[in-house]
Parts: sequence; structure tokens; C-alpha cells
Amino acid sequence: MILRNNRSSIKQSNVLDKEVLLEKYGLDSFDFKVKNDEGIFVCSKFRELDLIELDQLLQTVGWSRRPMRRVKRALEFSVLVVGVWRHDDKFPRLVGFARCTGDGILEATIWDVAINPVYQGLGLGKVLMKYLLKKLKATGISKVTLFADAGVIKFYKNQGWTLEPKGTKCAFWYAN
Ligand SMILES: CC(C)(COP(=O)(O)OP(=O)(O)OC[C@H]1O[C@@H](n2cnc3c(N)ncnc32)[C@H](O)[C@@H]1OP(=O)(O)O)[C@@H](O)C(=O)NCCC(=O)NCCS
Repeated sequence: MILRNNRSSIKQSNVLDKEVLLEKYGLDSFDFKVKNDEGIFVCSKFRELDLIELDQLLQTVGWSRRPMRRVKRALEFSVLVVGVWRHDDKFPRLVGFARCTGDGILEATIWDVAINPVYQGLGLGKVLMKYLLKKLKATGISKVTLFADAGVIKFYKNQGWTLEPKGTKCAFWYAN
């Protein structure tokens, strides 16, 4: 079953000075504002991640810790790694994260989608997913899979993901 949800979470995009955006977050980053938070948020696939900050973010959503050296290797082997940052001129803060593995050509699998609980419910997760899929599609990838935790199936379903027959764990997205 494919459902579509076109309600946008973005209040405003292109809010940062272009040079600042490029310098701090790299090419292809996406800056935006959401309702109910005065901050500026940025999705970036090039801004370097601080592994300690990433570890802390993943702990805020209750996931068990993984050895940092192995996480570093996993990021190196991922085909796409995206951070969501709450912009600050001096110290942007990592508030969201996701990564994809795959062959880089045909198929990808999304892992570790997380938004810091303080910033959940603002629409950041939705923007992050949209950004990921756009970047994957731009590389020609047309089939994306993820393994959703039981409590978040609806989050993906509402964004148009096709659930595996039992609708309990796995979801697929097809470019068309
Ligand atoms: C799941 C998660 C990434 C969602 O991020 P978020 O920024 O809070 O989500 P958004 O604010 O973008 O929500 C978008 C929509 O999904 C809905 N939604 C968010 N979390 C949901 C959930 N757990 N179950 C059902 N719907 C959910 C929102 O109500 C919103 O609906 P709307 O478009 O009708 O307003 C975030 O809650 C999270 O990090 N959870 C803990 C880690 C986790 O479980 N990750 C997923 C691993 S598979």
C-alpha cells in the first residue's frame, strides 16, 4: 500500500547566507526553518561529524553504544551519511542523523535515523528523510529499503513507504 503525505514541515528554506552555508556545511546542504522553533536547521552530507557528538545523539534516543572505531569504519563504508544541524555561527549542534549503505548504484538501505528528542515533532525527521531520498535518487538509486522499529512504522508509512506484507518491520521506497 502506498500512501502519500504532501503536508510540508518546512516553514521557510534558503534562510542562511549562501556563503556561510557552503563554508560550514558544504555543497548540496539544505537550510530551513520549521514551525515552533526559532532556530535554523541544516541537512548536510559533507559537514564532518564529531564521533562523540554522534554517540551522544544516538544515546538520546536510547540506542546502545557501539565502539567508536567501528562506527567510524561504518561511516566510511556508508554510501551516504547525513547530519541535521541546528545552526550556530560558532558551534552548530548535531540534532539529527541517518546513513545509508548499499552498492551506490542500484539499491540502498537506510540505517540509524534519529532526531534528538528535544527536537522531535518539529518536522525534522520528515525533512531528513526527504533529503536522503533526494540525494539517493540523484545518484540513480531507485530502490531503498529500511528496517523500521515497530513504534515508527507509521512515521514511514505516512511518508509513502511501502510496507512489507505484514507491515511490521520492513519498508521499501521506489523512485518513479
Ligand atoms: C522517528 C523519528 C526519526 C521521527 O522524527 P521527528 O522529527 O520527530 O518526526 P517529524 O516531526 O518529522 O514527524 C513527521 C510526521 O511523522 C509523525 N511521527 C513522528 N514520529 C512518529 C512515530 N514514532 N510514530 C508515528 N508517527 C510519527 C509525526 O506526527 C508527523 O506527522 P504529520 O506529518 O502528520 O504531522 C524520531 O522520533 C526518532 O528519532 N525516534 C527515535 C529513534 C527511532 O526510532 N528511529 C527510527 C529507527 S527505524
